[in-house]
Amino acid sequence: MASSPGLKVHRSRGETFRRRLVELGVFDRDRKIMSEGDHLYLPVLDLGREAAEDLASLGDFEVVVKDFEDAGRKETVEDLLGRRAHFEVVGDVAILDSPDRENAAAIMTVHKNVNTVISPLTPVEGEYRTRRFQHVAGERKTVTVHKEHGLRYRIDLENAYFTPRLGTERLRIAKLVRPGDVVFDMFAGVGPFALSIAKRGAKVVAVDKNPEAVRLMRENARLNRIDEIEILEGDASTMAERYENFADHVIMNLPHTAHDFLEHAIRIAKDGGVVHYYAIAPEEDLYGRDTAFVEEAALALGAKIRILFCGIVRSYAPHKYNVVIDFEVLKP
Ligand SMILES: C[S@@+](CC[C@H](N)C(=O)[O-])C[C@H]1O[C@@H](n2cnc3c(N)ncnc32)[C@H](O)[C@@H]1O
Repeated sequence: MASSPGLKVHRSRGETFRRRLVELGVFDRDRKIMSEGDHLYLPVLDLGREAAEDLASLGDFEVVVKDFEDAGRKETVEDLLGRRAHFEVVGDVAILDSPDRENAAAIMTVHKNVNTVISPLTPVEGEYRTRRFQHVAGERKTVTVHKEHGLRYRIDLENAYFTPRLGTERLRIAKLVRPGDVVFDMFAGVGPFALSIAKRGAKVVAVDKNPEAVRLMRENARLNRIDEIEILEGDASTMAERYENFADHVIMNLPHTAHDFLEHAIRIAKDGGVVHYYAIAPEEDLYGRDTAFVEEAALALGAKIRILFCGIVRSYAPHKYNVVIDFEVLKP
């Protein structure tokens, strides 16, 4: 740490000043922005009279000398804004929780791979679990290619469901599957569970009702050169007869309504097969209600179940969680 020159500016003007300093070539990238109360301290190189006059048009500032820390790590969006911005990145698209242009500019400055910033206009809704977006910055598009666990997925954020927030869960399931296992993914979307499992040598059948999701899933199988997968467009509830006693693993990633499909999933599972069941549950009853649904469905078919694992996958909303229950099916 060593004393060096900086600009003291009001926090609300911080990003405006920072961008102009970068444009003028006098922002000191080797030092970290400092924050104290309502003010930010932006490290600068020698300002010169011209740059100082230019900056005066942006508002009040003071030239100070401060002990700026070395920027040993990469600048974050939070550093730039002096506050948190809530966003996630899918491929080269950032999804920002509100259409804030200043936040979008900061994201594009820090994440050089982001070419588009969009913001949701609707929640994830309907049978196909899709949402509409508005454009905030960069290229106008909702299609991108996202990398996860060594595979590439073509995604259309507006027309088929995808979230990167299930990446860890997808890896957990993929690791439970052994080469040669038979897996049935009832609600496969663009294929992130199904393809990562097929890649590990399992034989996979993947179903989705949304024609656009199925088109992308087929494209993603080709993109990753994965052949051991049968991709079907249709309603998973019509598949139980054809695939009765078929699978070592059944994946039910439709968390709001998976309980309506439990009997179909149990029929598709082999004796000793495992069903991975997802739900949205309240904090005060994470697994009780859904365990009862599972037991009820098994009873209706004269089967038994053994709970193998219960866990929280991610937080979903205040006091609500996306949970998973893995259970073994024991057939009569
Ligand atoms: C929450 S998304 C999960 C997608 C995928 N598993 C993933 O991790 O990205 C649920 C998917 O189920 C599909 N879906 C909804 N109802 C269905 C049904 N009855 N049969 C088959 N697919 C259905 C939707 O189109 C959607 O793609």
